[in-house]
Amino acid sequence: MIVLGIESSCDETGIALYDSDRGLLAHTLHSQIELHAQYGGVVPELASRDHIHRAIPLIEEVLKQAGIEKSAIGGVAYTAGPGLIGALLVGAAIGRSIAYGLGVPAIEIHHMEGHLLAPMLEEAQPEFPFVALLVSGGHTMLVDVQSVGEYEILGESLDDAAGEAFDKTAKMLGLGYPGGPILAKCAESGEQGIYKFPRPMTDRPGLDFSFSGLKTFTLNTWNRSDKSEQDRANVSLAFQDAVVDTLAIKCKRAMQQTGHDTLVLAGGVSANKGLREKLSQFAEEQGFKLFYPRPEFCTDNGAMIAYAGYLRMSRGGSNSEDLTFSATPRWPIDSGLKLA
Ligand code: KG4
Ligand code: ZN
Repeated sequence: MIVLGIESSCDETGIALYDSDRGLLAHTLHSQIELHAQYGGVVPELASRDHIHRAIPLIEEVLKQAGIEKSAIGGVAYTAGPGLIGALLVGAAIGRSIAYGLGVPAIEIHHMEGHLLAPMLEEAQPEFPFVALLVSGGHTMLVDVQSVGEYEILGESLDDAAGEAFDKTAKMLGLGYPGGPILAKCAESGEQGIYKFPRPMTDRPGLDFSFSGLKTFTLNTWNRSDKSEQDRANVSLAFQDAVVDTLAIKCKRAMQQTGHDTLVLAGGVSANKGLREKLSQFAEEQGFKLFYPRPEFCTDNGAMIAYAGYLRMSRGGSNSEDLTFSATPRWPIDSGLKLA
């Protein structure tokens, strides 16, 4: 079966085709970075409108790339939440309509489940059970994953998500939008050991995170510095190291707590080289297996949604052929995803 995947939860329109026999056939993406850059962040209404313009041409593009007719599509998977309500509704309306027109089932996908399963698009696949560290712009969490749909949240951010902290800190340092990759690039020319930042909530037990205080600490340090280019890089590096270290410490705890031998890293911040390197080093020291997606599948994309759709449909996940649809802007990953 060929599944069409549609991702439109935030500022990227991601479209893909996944075939149960041949794997990923094609994927494409339109990023709205330029559209939102002038406002310093995502403007929800502009995001929705842009998804409307982009989705259909991108769907035509993947069909062409894959060399198939739309009649070959056997199911449609779309992100139904969490995310921006207007943006989600665009993907849901288009996904449902295409499925209805073709007379095939449509299925709602949880955006973070898409991220969580993205490492399975690679050749070397993690085996269940495993611990997943999901680090995106909207969420930071450690999840005990028993199988597709069986998720227990072990810990999560009490305030800013890791990606959000990167974005806001980058803005404070005058680095622009989108902050994560720009700050990471700036940190590359930073000098180690100039600043030492706290590792929030690592001095007490538990697996929750808090990055809001670290952001303020970074701002105060920056305001006291001479604000040279080198200082900007030094502060960026100290901030990144603090986030990476904090995530790594909690991952180590989660591995000990669950006894699992596999760690999966996913979500936009998992594209961060420093984080990948730190966790790879940790995995080697501690003797556990580490999996993460290729960089383009760390950030939002249609491939993870098409793949999650295929996995769910092939396991009897609920789907329907009617025209009723909705979106769920707030949707905990540990509720309502268990397959029968
Ligand atoms: O998963 P994602 O594409 O969208 C959400 O689901 O939120 O994650 C986007 C987040 C943004 O906050 C972005 O700044 C961050 O991931 N990000 C990074 C890097 N690339 C993307 N953060 C740190 N280092 C990076 N290389
Ligand atoms: Zn995402």
